[in-house]
Amino acid sequence: MRSGPIRVHPRSSAALPTLLLFALVTTALAAPPNPNWFPKQDMLTIGVYYYPEAWPQSQWARDMANIKKLGMEYVHMGEFAWYFMEPSEGKFDFAWLEKNVELAHQNGLKVILCTPSATPPIWLVQQHPEVLMVDAQGRTMQHGSREQADWSSPLYREYVTKIDTELAKHFGNDPRVWGWQIDNELSHYGRRYSYAKASTVKFRDWLREAYGSIDKLNESWGGAFWSTHYQNFDQIEIPNAQTLVADPSPHSVLDLDRWFAHEAADYIKMQATVLRQYTKNQWITTNFMSMHEDVDPSLSQNTLDVFSWTHYPVHGNLNEGPLGFRLGSADEMSFMHDFMRSFNGLSGPMELQPGEVNWGEVNPWPLPGAIHMWLLRAFGAGARLVCTYRYRQPLYGSELYHKGLAEPDGVTPSPGGREYSQAMNDVRELRKHYNPNAQEPQSYAARRTAFLIADDNRWDISNHKQTIRWDTVAHWMRYYRALKSVQAPVDVLTPERDFSKHPFVVAPAFQLMNEDLVRRFTEYVQAGGHLVLTCRTGQKDMHGHLWEGPWAMPILPLIGAKIPIYDDLPVGVNGHVSAAGKTYAWGSWGDILQPDEGTQVLATYSDQFYSGKAAAVTRKLGKGTVTYIGVDTLDGELERALIHQVYAAAGASPANLAPNFLIDWRDGFWVATNFSSEAQPIPAPNNAQILVGQREVPPGGATVWIE
Ligand code: GAL
Repeated sequence: MRSGPIRVHPRSSAALPTLLLFALVTTALAAPPNPNWFPKQDMLTIGVYYYPEAWPQSQWARDMANIKKLGMEYVHMGEFAWYFMEPSEGKFDFAWLEKNVELAHQNGLKVILCTPSATPPIWLVQQHPEVLMVDAQGRTMQHGSREQADWSSPLYREYVTKIDTELAKHFGNDPRVWGWQIDNELSHYGRRYSYAKASTVKFRDWLREAYGSIDKLNESWGGAFWSTHYQNFDQIEIPNAQTLVADPSPHSVLDLDRWFAHEAADYIKMQATVLRQYTKNQWITTNFMSMHEDVDPSLSQNTLDVFSWTHYPVHGNLNEGPLGFRLGSADEMSFMHDFMRSFNGLSGPMELQPGEVNWGEVNPWPLPGAIHMWLLRAFGAGARLVCTYRYRQPLYGSELYHKGLAEPDGVTPSPGGREYSQAMNDVRELRKHYNPNAQEPQSYAARRTAFLIADDNRWDISNHKQTIRWDTVAHWMRYYRALKSVQAPVDVLTPERDFSKHPFVVAPAFQLMNEDLVRRFTEYVQAGGHLVLTCRTGQKDMHGHLWEGPWAMPILPLIGAKIPIYDDLPVGVNGHVSAAGKTYAWGSWGDILQPDEGTQVLATYSDQFYSGKAAAVTRKLGKGTVTYIGVDTLDGELERALIHQVYAAAGASPANLAPNFLIDWRDGFWVATNFSSEAQPIPAPNNAQILVGQREVPPGGATVWIE
């Protein structure tokens, strides 16, 4: 993954592995974060969404006072209010917003304002239907919902620029306004790409810039396969599974995914640039979606000041254990914190569920206590802000049944509202114990791990999975949870970031590889780092082409093994692997390894025609080690055992925490959160001072202590 305009190997030949996708080419927009935005000693601040445009003016003052009474410290407004900000073209009305900013201020609440670009007003789309997105079936999207505009449209961007400019002129130099959010969950939700003319033109321009000549594009996309050669860039359409008779070139779809993410980042940057002309001492974010594949936050790492995302942990998904459907996924929640925090340390969920939601197939209640646990989890993970969607439960609109912090009467705190309040009280209590000199405990720091991900890999695997049993995120999570069970602090990094100081690096399923990354891995290990690579790594170059050489050619000298074959099994058939006397089942992917001399075997296949061959190996290289785990097991238990072994062999004294029980350290505090269905004891010394919760953490509980 890379930041800024993606240059897909300008003028390099497909046979050359040295592509420069990881280069940082964005002009830095964000200045260094201002320390006053998030005072260190405050640690975490909690706030809520409020939609003044949806409630009678007579209730604004009451609502704002009640938000304050609940303990919230800021309020978030305006992200869907374009119609109310510009009721007709060029006529701007911010009086209602101004009134609410003032009410917030009078109540001691900070304000986040938003650009309303997710919801174009009717006058705009009626006058210019060409700004609407077109879906894969060629249908122009209607007014009446949100995210229906095509953000590649220069005309749409002009209108967005105008409203953003007016907003920023009005509120950009206003100390009552703390920060800005751009758009909302930038995406076209399930429809993904827009096939509108404007998008097609931008896609072609991007390809033209990336490749320089149509011959290079033909080479990269494999034009000699099925006579798919193009003669010029203007012949290219956005690949569309709905209108292609058979599969498109996976290389063209990889480029489409890259372009789409780049285009979103470009749009975020465009809006940030407009805001920055007028803002003074205010920060800028956008709310990405949790685990979302289409839009890549790392492409905006030089644009934004704060990294936020939206997360609804309980929406009918089962997760693990009998209570998992009420507790959410520990892995996903923790992973997103570790990813978004890694850019500059200013991060947090901008929307965290306040209770039941309305959009799942079923929408159960979170377990009483779970919301409080998620907030304490945010605290433990180093978040600096959490905001919840929304203050009042709506009485009309498409989100009926969606809980808020207040019940439908508009005044009574909901159960979730009370948990937000309690969490904010806890944070206030914890602030009293803030110690600016607290040092991360050494044994904890010794396990610090860089977990590398790249959307390039995720996209390329999705575009050609080879087996329906493979799930890239599930594969990542098997390793991620293994790391949390050894109690490793994790930073989720994209590969252009520096990982050389982390004692451990785990890079799962890194399918696309370039020479530069192999070199950095090798230098890292030689200098004493411990590297874990996993199956489906290094199979292809950055175009998504296989190597003309041995399978996974560039990584073989690093892992000290060959990969003569790989296998995947039909649904219903499982293979088995044994390690240290235990057997583990697998079905989605197995690299069958042939270790070089000096490479140690950690696990072997125990059935199929390659029974007895290696499934996982490790070797010393320079001062460090490389471990290659070639099999993806069904339950991740082998991965957990091997990660434990790697950390133990490296002298990092791994813990052995129960699955879904997380313990982190932050600013001198130990924070345990229990997403499992059983009570879990905390491993605290007898003289530990418990500040929140108890020694026995119930399901959905959180405990904070100092040692
Ligand atoms: C989010 C979205 C919010 C609201 C919420 C409902 O994904 O950003 O605007 O729709 O879902 O849960």
